[in-house]
Amino acid sequence: MSEKKVPADTCVLVTGGAGFIGSHTVVELLQQGYHAVVVDDLSNSSEKAVDRIKAIVGPEAAANLRFYQADVNDRAALEQVFTDNAIDRVIHFAGFKAVGESVEKPIEYYTNNIGNTLTLVDVMRAHGCKSIIFSSSATVYGEPDSLPLTEESPKKPATNPYGWTKWMIEQILTDLHTADPEWDVVLLRYFNPIGAHPSGLIGEDPKGIPNNLVPYVAQVAVGKREFVRVWGDDYPTPDGTGVRDYIHVMDLASGHVAALAWMNGRTGVEVFNLGTGKGSSVLDVIHAFSRACGRDLPYQIGPRRAGDVVANYADCSKAEREMGWTARYDLDDMCRDSWNWQSKNPDGYEG
Ligand code: UD1
Repeated sequence: MSEKKVPADTCVLVTGGAGFIGSHTVVELLQQGYHAVVVDDLSNSSEKAVDRIKAIVGPEAAANLRFYQADVNDRAALEQVFTDNAIDRVIHFAGFKAVGESVEKPIEYYTNNIGNTLTLVDVMRAHGCKSIIFSSSATVYGEPDSLPLTEESPKKPATNPYGWTKWMIEQILTDLHTADPEWDVVLLRYFNPIGAHPSGLIGEDPKGIPNNLVPYVAQVAVGKREFVRVWGDDYPTPDGTGVRDYIHVMDLASGHVAALAWMNGRTGVEVFNLGTGKGSSVLDVIHAFSRACGRDLPYQIGPRRAGDVVANYADCSKAEREMGWTARYDLDDMCRDSWNWQSKNPDGYEG
């Protein structure tokens, strides 16, 4: 139920709150005076992230954080979380996110991502909590017909199970609101999140070989990998490489808090793009990261990667108009902070 509340009286459940975007959002929530309950099974994250969130926000705000190591799909555990805490709103990040792996393991991806969402909203409903922000993705737009992408741009069939889970969960949450208009649902479509908290204490910690560009580039910069493989330089873009709208994870975090404040007391389903509105090519990223780490990073051109779109970037005017949110960091800031994190934590949280 969407009751109007001030942050100090608002308890936010953050599923996947130990993960990359989740941990940065929890920092922002605590710093804005919210109470946060993190549920994370640590399958792709570390409890050290929770310790570091506390270190960043300091003891006073850290007292407003509770952590449960649990799978969101574990109904009994989730029931306990809702029994122990008067949850007002939920930000749902928890999910598997590797595109290639999702093609290999569709059952695991659908069971985890869709299953945990259904368990979550069912338990929420049972406890009278009908307010949710979902971590969606620009992947739902597929290959754009025109740029920039607005929230009105058509959704396209996904090219992999990961993308379908985002696509379908958007639909599930929309149907939930149709059935019961007391729900308030915000679907945040992220473009490409990179960067890290400026302290270098929390950041992205991919397991194994990174699939995404910036974590890979960061590992080249730190000497763990030899060179960046650029997936195609024959696209119809200014330098032939793929163009994306990279957004600093700090900006994404503030976007979630802006959405919480915006949805305060409303009901409905609303979609917002969270990006910078600026497209950067793969080579732009490699050059910006080279400036950040102080040496030219080696790269080789390879074939196109299956399923990649040519170019995408967001029109973020709706988020600015409605929620008063805009991205503040540029690509150089993002690479500086990614490098700061990577150089201080070359082996991630386990280092
Ligand atoms: C990818 C997913 C997308 C998901 C997002 C989450 C695919 C096809 N898409 O987006 O569904 O929501 O991650 O963060 O995986 N690149 C290289 N070399 C590399 C890695 C990437 O040249 O080693 C290029 C890609 O071809 C692309 C750009 O860098 O042009 C960005 O790639 P990536 O970071 O993987 O993000 P997306 O593909 O946009």
